[in-house]
Amino acid sequence: MQQKRSNFSSKLGFVLAASGSAVGLGNIWRFPYLAAKYGGGTFLLIYLILAVTFGFSLMIAEIAIGRKTGLSAIGAFKMLDKRFGFLGILASAVPIVIFPYYSVIGGWVVKYFTVFISGGAGASAADDYFSTFISGTFEPLGWFFIFLAVTALIVLCGVEKGIEKVSKIMMPILVVLTLVISVYGLTREGAMEGLVYYIKPHMSDVSAKTILAAMGQLFYSMSLAMGIMVTYGSYMKKDNHLESSVRQIELFDTGIAFLAGLMIIPAVFAFSGGDESALSAGPGLMFITLPKVFASMKLGGAIGTIFFLLVFFAALTSAISLMETIVSIFRDKFNWSRKGACIFVAVLALIMGAPSSLGFGPLSFISWMGMSVLDIMDFVSNSVLMPIVAFFTCIFVGFFIKTKSISDEVRVTDGKFKAEKLFTVMIKWVAPIFLLLILLSSVGGALGIDFLQALSV
Ligand code: TRP
Repeated sequence: MQQKRSNFSSKLGFVLAASGSAVGLGNIWRFPYLAAKYGGGTFLLIYLILAVTFGFSLMIAEIAIGRKTGLSAIGAFKMLDKRFGFLGILASAVPIVIFPYYSVIGGWVVKYFTVFISGGAGASAADDYFSTFISGTFEPLGWFFIFLAVTALIVLCGVEKGIEKVSKIMMPILVVLTLVISVYGLTREGAMEGLVYYIKPHMSDVSAKTILAAMGQLFYSMSLAMGIMVTYGSYMKKDNHLESSVRQIELFDTGIAFLAGLMIIPAVFAFSGGDESALSAGPGLMFITLPKVFASMKLGGAIGTIFFLLVFFAALTSAISLMETIVSIFRDKFNWSRKGACIFVAVLALIMGAPSSLGFGPLSFISWMGMSVLDIMDFVSNSVLMPIVAFFTCIFVGFFIKTKSISDEVRVTDGKFKAEKLFTVMIKWVAPIFLLLILLSSVGGALGIDFLQALSV
């Protein structure tokens, strides 16, 4: 059955839609806590370098594969080379792992929004507020359920278009608000020390772990190595310039992540009195520090309410696109109705997400290398599955369909591909070697073997 694919009407439309998928909790919640944990400026620098080399090349490859074939991941890889059908399937497994725990955190955001709107800003600034909340049983489960239900309803009713319109208004407001909160945080006493920590790299901090974390974040934040960008590419018109679109999406995504770090990290310094251990709060960082900032701010209750509402929207648009991807995988594969697939995916996410939600309370005895269930899910998707998918994508493009076929696709619009050399070298050599080392390190680490140490990298 050959369906005519609808297209994005303009380049801006394409860039905004792809950015809408890319910008989400990854930028506002995940990036700042990783940067805080892994050396601030060091992490930032490594992230930026990886974004313009690695992220750029991989995103070009994925979007070009989609546009060339006009298919989403499962079909696209298979069509270009039968032997690589498995890659589409592997890529599709990533959103299935991410979506459930993404919704758990979405639930935390909804909870904070309701706390703020009902005047609880002051209470939420207490030191153990967050830890008490997530170590509960039914409360976090309930919020997770609410977030999941809203997402599922929207995907079921197919009203994403309306949501997208709303989020196009909300996104710019989020950026402005983030700036306002950053300026406020930066002018607190002790914040400058935090700013220095955030932007000044220390070469002595560079470690395999930091690079691994930055790489995982890059995939996550840009929705790479999971077939999403292949699907977006399949909707892109040939007369939209691929290379400059990719640059814009990257700039947008990285810009928002940078701002979110600017909003949170200096504030951590200011409110912890320079206590560095506050930086390693991990996934809870946004929920622990920001309420303190809001509590000390004039109109903090109102600003916090708006802030969590905006974050909720950013999370919701990403969650919708995650769920939509999973739903269409099952529909294509098993010919299910939209309703059936939606219900199945929602129940699956509920079952898979519940342990992540309970992992800080009743299930806190489950831990692996110091990671909670949610961290394990995050680790499996970002540090194991995505590097594997990215590795095979590079090999596939570099040695099977050849980089030239991708370059030709990029050049279709006006004959130009400025960074073609960079792209070719990255995809064929640098990225695969790098990815292999990263995999060794993450899988080895999980098995208790420090490969990188052994190789003295
Ligand atoms: N990139 C999104 C973020 O930064 C998260 C995400 C990962 C995502 N994979 C996705 C969103 C697939 C939509 C579709 O939060």
